[in-house]
Amino acid sequence: MPDQATLNHAAQILASITADQRADLALRFYFEAHRYLQPPAKREISHTVFVYFRWRSWLDPKAPPQKRLAHALTLHERFTADPKAIKAETLAALAVPAWLWTELEFTPVPSPESRSDSPSEVPLSGTKEGSPQKASPSAKADFLRQLQRDPALWIRARPGTAAALAKSLFACERTALAPDALRFTGTQDLFRTEQFTSGQFEIQDLASQLVGLACAPQPGETWWDACAGEGGKTLHLADLMANKGLIWATDRHPKRLDTLKRRAGRAKLFNYRTALWDGSAKLPTKTKFDGILVDAPCSGVGTWQRNPHARWATSPDDVRELAATQLALLNHVAGSLKPGGRLVYSVCTLTRSETTAVADAFAAAHPELEPHALPIAAPGAPDPARVTLWPQDLNANGMFIAAWKRKK
Ligand SMILES: C[S@@+](CC[C@H](N)C(=O)[O-])C[C@H]1O[C@@H](n2cnc3c(N)ncnc32)[C@H](O)[C@@H]1O
Repeated sequence: MPDQATLNHAAQILASITADQRADLALRFYFEAHRYLQPPAKREISHTVFVYFRWRSWLDPKAPPQKRLAHALTLHERFTADPKAIKAETLAALAVPAWLWTELEFTPVPSPESRSDSPSEVPLSGTKEGSPQKASPSAKADFLRQLQRDPALWIRARPGTAAALAKSLFACERTALAPDALRFTGTQDLFRTEQFTSGQFEIQDLASQLVGLACAPQPGETWWDACAGEGGKTLHLADLMANKGLIWATDRHPKRLDTLKRRAGRAKLFNYRTALWDGSAKLPTKTKFDGILVDAPCSGVGTWQRNPHARWATSPDDVRELAATQLALLNHVAGSLKPGGRLVYSVCTLTRSETTAVADAFAAAHPELEPHALPIAAPGAPDPARVTLWPQDLNANGMFIAAWKRKK
């Protein structure tokens, strides 16, 4: 149990959270204003705040914040010691908002592996023989239990250097799913390591790394990362292209693109250019691309383990609006593909409205495109051009990826 100072800091952060200032932002601002806090203290405070939002529905709203925080930590300790101590039905009712169950599909498919309590040992959803992309009832329980766990920390080594980086950072585990991905299990502040400052790795979730691998850009190609944000996937694409060719990295927020440029400088990646694009039909360029990635804004249900406050700050209206935005973004970029060019759509969410429904509506409106099999492991998937990555299978964020190719 953390000390009183940690509970006091966490209580102040809770008080600063509003609809416009979510927990992750509130934490960032608080730490900027309290620079004397050392990395271990910051980790403990962040952990306490996130645990609070995972267990919020179990807490007495009338109790003082420090008491509620301490209660949440007790529940978390009990759950960590024995994840089955809390029934899946209870988790389904209290750990997530009720509207989620109208948006997630769990069909009765027996799947012995998905009952494991060691998520990192379980292959991708859809890789088990006879198991479709929809999760089974036991997967529903596994999904909920995964949401209540502390999230794993994934990093992406520069191509071909994962083994050497793992040796130099210690406390790293590799995965067969992505050659450059490492799960970091240590406690040091990665941002302060020499390996980070010299650009030897990026902090990037495993599911996001699978998006880059699904794009499979080739050196010398021309790509458009249409929702580039701070460049997590742009940098991965640039690395996969061995710094050769060109990536147009666009976003509506100039500050995010500034961060992208800083990160690219650290990684010594130069095969990109940035431009502002607000997602409208007025495109930033007339260029025709070998590949386009639309890593669209979404409700982020796939990140609810890492960012549990979002469970309580996201509404069905958000899901509806974001689904419409995603479809509009896809429609606007589709004409910019060369014949044979690939379009990859990814969202770190799992709602039906934002995943399969958008992909279906888009496909129906674009007969000039055909489904394109994703070059990542999903052999049992009913549709090789679509994959749902579940957090409990990856021990990482959830993600939906679909791909199409422009007919020649
Ligand atoms: C999921 S984030 C992208 C994350 C980024 N690809 C990465 O890997 O770090 C979605 C991005 O889409 C941008 N965005 C939101 N609405 C948009 C719109 N209507 N048009 C274009 N970009 C938009 C946001 O600014 C945000 O940076």
